[in-house]
Amino acid sequence: MKKALIFGVTGQDGAYLADALLKKNYIVHGVKRRQSSLSSASRLDIIFKDPIQRETDFILHYGDVTDPNNVTALISKIKPDEIYNLAAQSHVAVSFVMPAYTGQVDALGTLNILEAIRAIGLERTTKFYQASTSELYGKVLEFPQSEKTPFNPQSPYSIAKMYAFYMTKLYREAYGLFSANGILFNHESPLRGENFVTRKITLGLAKIKLGLEKKLFLGNLDAKRDWGHAKDYVDAMWRVLQTENAKDYVIATGEQHSVREFVEKAASFIDINIAWHGSDIKEVGVDQNGRELINIRKEYYRPAEVETLQGDSTLARKDLKWKHEIGFSSLVEEMMISDLALLRDGEMPNPFA
Ligand code: NAP
Ligand code: GDD
Repeated sequence: MKKALIFGVTGQDGAYLADALLKKNYIVHGVKRRQSSLSSASRLDIIFKDPIQRETDFILHYGDVTDPNNVTALISKIKPDEIYNLAAQSHVAVSFVMPAYTGQVDALGTLNILEAIRAIGLERTTKFYQASTSELYGKVLEFPQSEKTPFNPQSPYSIAKMYAFYMTKLYREAYGLFSANGILFNHESPLRGENFVTRKITLGLAKIKLGLEKKLFLGNLDAKRDWGHAKDYVDAMWRVLQTENAKDYVIATGEQHSVREFVEKAASFIDINIAWHGSDIKEVGVDQNGRELINIRKEYYRPAEVETLQGDSTLARKDLKWKHEIGFSSLVEEMMISDLALLRDGEMPNPFA
C-alpha cells in the first residue's frame, strides 16, 4: 500500500484528494493545524463517518508548514511515497492584508518541505507535488495560458507562490528530486471556502431564496475565470505524480466565464432571473419581481486585479491522459443545490458520492 502525506488536508482540495487516495487504497496521512474550534476538520467528517475508510487508513497529525522541525519530524517518521503540498494562505484578497504571513506559509512553507525531504535523504524515493496556481499568470501576457506563458503575478499570494514554483523546479533540477508543479486554474465545489466568490454566490443566493438574507454584496462582476470542479483537479494532482519524469502541468477546462455569468447561472437553478441595471459600483442585480438582490461594494475590489484567466492544458491531456469530467453548468448546479440543502436541512449531500 502506498503512503501519501497531505499538507493542507483540511482544505477543499485536501478533502477531495484524501477521499480519492483512500479509494485507491493508499494510506493517507494528513497534517492539521491546531485550532481552538473542534470543527476545523469539518470537511473530513464525511470521510471519517464512512465505515470503509476507517481511521486506520487515514491518520491526522498536528503540524504547520512554517515549523521546519515539525515538518522534518513528520516526513522522517512517515517516509511517504508521495507528498502533496496543498497548505497555503490561499485567499488572494487576504494576501494584500497579510503579505508577510502569506510569504511565510506559501513560499517558505514549501521550502521547509523540500529541505526536509533532502535532509532526510528521501529525494530518490519520495515524490513531491506543489499546488501552483494560474494566479502566477496575473496580468496575462498570452492567451490562453500554457506552461510556456511567462508569469506576471499581481498579488502577494501569487508572488509567494512563484517562489514556491521555482523552488520546486530547482529541487528537481539540482537534486534529482521528483518534484512537480500543478499549475491549477480555479476549481470549486460544495466544499469551497465561503469567502471565495463562487461559494459566496451560491450560499448568498440560497439564503435569499430561503428568506434568511435580502441581498448579496459583491465586487468586480467582470472578472473572468476558468472554473473547474475540485474533484477533477485532485485526480490531475495524483496523475502528475504517476509519471516517469517530473514535469510542470497546466490543469484547466479551457473555458472562461465571468463572475456576472456565475451569478446568473446559479440564480437560474433556483428560479431567479437576474437583470443588471446601472454601472460600476452603482450596478445592481434585480430579480423578475423587481427586488434588488445584488449590490456592489468597493471593499470587495482588490488593489490589483487579475481580470482574465483561461488555461490551455494540452500537455496534461497528452501526458497525463487527464480531462475534466464536470462542466461549468453542472458545477454551479451542484454547488447551488448543496447550499440550499445545507441551509434548509442542516446537512449537504455527500460531496464525495
Ligand atoms: P483552502 O481550502 O484554503 O485550504 C488550504 C489548506 O492549507 C487548509 O487545510 C489550511 O488549514 C492549510 N494551511 C494553511 N496554512 C497552513 C500552515 N501554515 N500549515 C499547514 N497547513 C496550512 O485551499 P484549496 O482551495 O483547497 O487549495 C489547495 C491549494 O491549492 C492551496 O495551496 C491553494 O493556494 C492552491 N490552489 C488552489 C486553487 C483553487 O482554485 N482552489 C487553484 C490553484 C491553486 P486550515 O483548515 O487550518 O486553515
Ligand atoms: N472573493 C471574492 N469575493 N471575489 C470576488 C468578489 C467577492 O465578493 N466579487 C468579485 N470577485 C472577483 C475577484 O475580484 C476575482 O477576480 C474573482 O472574483 C475570483 O475571486 P476568488 O473566488 O476569491 O478567487 P481567485 O481567482 O482570486 O483565487 C482563487 O483561485 C486561484 C487560482 O487562479 C484561489 O483559490 C487561489 O488560491 C487560487 O490560486
